[in-house]
Amino acid sequence: MARELRIGMVGSGYIARAHVYGYRTMPSVFPEAAALPRLEMIADLDEALAASARSRFGFARHSGDWRRLIEDSAVDIVDICFPSVMHREVALAAIAAGKHVYCEKPVGLSGSEVSEIAAAAARAGVKSLVGYSYLRNPLIGFARKLIQEGAIGEIVHFRGAHNEDYMADPAVPFVWRCDPKIAGEAGALGDLGSHIVSIARHLAGEIRAVCGQARTVIKERPVAAGSREMRQVGNDDEAQFLIEFANGATGHIESSRIATGSRMDITYEITGTHGAIQFDGERMNEIKLFSDRDPVDRQGFRTIYAGPTHPPYGNFLPAPGHGLGFNDHKVIEAFELMQLVSLGEPAMPDLAEAARIGQVLDAVLRSSAERCWITVA
Ligand SMILES: NC(=O)c1ccc[n+]([C@@H]2O[C@H](COP(=O)([O-])OP(=O)(O)OC[C@H]3O[C@@H](n4cnc5c(N)ncnc54)[C@H](O)[C@@H]3O)[C@@H](O)[C@H]2O)c1
Repeated sequence: MARELRIGMVGSGYIARAHVYGYRTMPSVFPEAAALPRLEMIADLDEALAASARSRFGFARHSGDWRRLIEDSAVDIVDICFPSVMHREVALAAIAAGKHVYCEKPVGLSGSEVSEIAAAAARAGVKSLVGYSYLRNPLIGFARKLIQEGAIGEIVHFRGAHNEDYMADPAVPFVWRCDPKIAGEAGALGDLGSHIVSIARHLAGEIRAVCGQARTVIKERPVAAGSREMRQVGNDDEAQFLIEFANGATGHIESSRIATGSRMDITYEITGTHGAIQFDGERMNEIKLFSDRDPVDRQGFRTIYAGPTHPPYGNFLPAPGHGLGFNDHKVIEAFELMQLVSLGEPAMPDLAEAARIGQVLDAVLRSSAERCWITVA
């Protein structure tokens, strides 16, 4: 029988629910898993929130104090689903207690915070995984394989976006994501831009320098739905930046939470010397490939549907084109977490990679403030 790894989850909001979906679905999708998650304990800001989450999600125990979860000897992995403001304190306490850390992105309030957490994890020798969900899409693995096989030649350019419109309406109330003290100085850039930066680094490599612009478009929002009382928005609604990659390629990324009409526009196009790859997050089970090696009279982007030839799609479905969904990313992530902690199989991104992503975000904000190119630390 597979070993059990006991999960202590901190936070019980939207992404916590997706993590629970991942843990619960994983054993049937990945019967080869070397370990199975056990929902041991959940903590939230108070007793009532934690008790409600325990019964909703099916954890064995709960606590209104996350410190008790970390001290608990029956917890192996601390799964952090709190907003950024809490990541440093919870993660450092978990690492000091010798627990493995599974943390939501973008990790901490800044690149320096995540660097500090990553260094502590390295010193303690604990394993870490960060919830950059979209990297789990089997088509990202396929795009990387195409690039590594030389299917598009040398990379010349990366164009990426993560745009959504969840705050496009000025009547949408102020939420913690608009507060730099809770979400960090990077607003849409941290919430959404961090995801496309994770993809850019995964597919096109190290980012050497950026030249960016970030701005708050809707300067204040009602404190609650329908309220006349307004609160100032403290971080960016949209950001965009030019990129110099270490390999000499160039790029451009944009992220917005007010992109009217964009529901899940996590998009990239990688242009190479012999071809190109296009992906559109609103069609997450398709990828387009152009090759200049095709006969000239039939060249054009061809659509390839995700299927069992794109691992681990075949674990979910035996037939191509049937499609995975957003939450399936978390099923794959749960499997990778089990393999990482029980077998030491490498899983990315870890905290060290999250730190490099955080340094890119910091450089974009600095570049925007100073109106110049910034070399990423
Ligand atoms: N990987 C992804 O695709 C993805 C998607 C959504 C959110 N996230 C990340 O997950 C984390 C949590 O986001 P969420 O959407 O679950 O948030 P949420 O608002 O739905 O839930 C937040 C949880 O944290 C608790 N909390 C602790 N301190 C808080 C504070 N100061 N303000 C508000 N809530 C506080 C709340 O009680 C709640 O349990 C964030 O780091 C976010 O960036 C990742």
